[in-house]
Amino acid sequence: MVDIVKQPGRLRRAPENFLSEAEIKAVGEGRRDFLRKSFLTAAGAAMAVPMLARASEGDANILQNPEWTTTLGQPVAVRPYGLPSKHESQLVRRESPGLTRVGAASVSFAPLQGMFGIITPSGLHFERHHQGWYDIDPARHRLMINGSEPAFVKQAKVYNMDELMRLPSVSRIHFIECGANTGLEWGNVAVPTVQYTHGMLSCSEFTGVPLKLLLDDCGVDYRKARFVLAEGADGSSMTRTIPMEMVESGEVLVAYGQNGEMLRPENGYPLRLVVPGVQGVSWVKWLRRIEVGDKPYATKDEAVHYIDLLPNGQHRQYTSVQECKSVITTPSGGQALLDKGFYNVSGLAWSGRGRLKQVDVSFDGGINWQAARIEGPVQNKALTRFNIGWVWDGKPAILQSRAIDETAYVQPTYGQLRLVRGTKSIYHNNAIQSWKVDESGEVSNVQVL
Ligand code: MTE
Repeated sequence: MVDIVKQPGRLRRAPENFLSEAEIKAVGEGRRDFLRKSFLTAAGAAMAVPMLARASEGDANILQNPEWTTTLGQPVAVRPYGLPSKHESQLVRRESPGLTRVGAASVSFAPLQGMFGIITPSGLHFERHHQGWYDIDPARHRLMINGSEPAFVKQAKVYNMDELMRLPSVSRIHFIECGANTGLEWGNVAVPTVQYTHGMLSCSEFTGVPLKLLLDDCGVDYRKARFVLAEGADGSSMTRTIPMEMVESGEVLVAYGQNGEMLRPENGYPLRLVVPGVQGVSWVKWLRRIEVGDKPYATKDEAVHYIDLLPNGQHRQYTSVQECKSVITTPSGGQALLDKGFYNVSGLAWSGRGRLKQVDVSFDGGINWQAARIEGPVQNKALTRFNIGWVWDGKPAILQSRAIDETAYVQPTYGQLRLVRGTKSIYHNNAIQSWKVDESGEVSNVQVL
């Protein structure tokens, strides 16, 4: 392996780190311990010898019966709604002092470093609220559908939850990513963990009614009404324009279900819009009104926010679809490798344009690439899990993943992305993420151009 860590020019270290030391320590600790523990108990070729040695030394954990083998366990329904093990208490959504306002209506990040497969447990789904969240009484919630001009709909209607939930429903797995995910890395600020670099990302099975069905029910004139305005019931007056072609595709859902139960209040209970492949801000929560119109609405959340400042000073507006992206979640920043030997390198890939075709992984900062194993079935506009085995030789390494979607779009490097988009953006960063492993096994966030 080429020692690229010492190669001048290729590697750029982030100059600053906005998180407090205590916060970084807290984030790192839980999963680092977990990684160490899981490797001590994992069955793997490289670990077989040390494990045998431990058994012959007389490991009390295997030679003696623990109390849970010899006593009566807890009865059912002590917890009518189940909770994770107390030993998993470190795996939680976190706010980020320095990145965002803490304790306010803002952002909490999903702990991608500790999750498996592609479904985000609802209690770990990231949150982004412009004006806080509510636990709305479903009996008082309504969805209105109207036209910006009376001629655009035969009949404007107001639905209550009971009326919506008796209509034909569908269930589909989709990712949601905030347009600001990975935003700080534009300015080369290396936040320490994947929770903060990529944690405004989640994936759930959503259940609801296709919006097209409701528009048909109201008799929308699709020749005239080519845009939809979605409006939330919260104080932020969240409003976003969605092109009618997306609705006509049947993919846009008015959803009430998430992972087999009702939406969580933080995620829009009792009703949210699901706009597969499109940035999170368009997934309007606490959805209360849909208006159809003949032009984009240019609301504050699309004319002022969620736009990209380009090098020529112009803004790229209505950036909507989340381009193909991937990230290695284990090992990732804040974790530590135990020793030389075998590791399962695991990550997530996704594309707002459809299905994933391939994910390549590099262990030398992008010089050599190998195809990772994609865990199927690969679903449309959903997260895809990839895995690849790696034998760490104890030398510094830089781990990267590069996704390619079914349109043949290849996830760009930072160099390629900045060439087109400059450095002043906040949103829509889909560049290749690099994690550096140093000789001690510590993993940190670096940028490779
Ligand atoms: N809808 C309303 N009504 N209010 C909001 O503040 N935030 C938006 C979107 N929908 C928001 C909203 C943003 S910016 C994002 S990224 C997603 O919701 C986040 O969804 P989540 O909180 O379920 O993760």
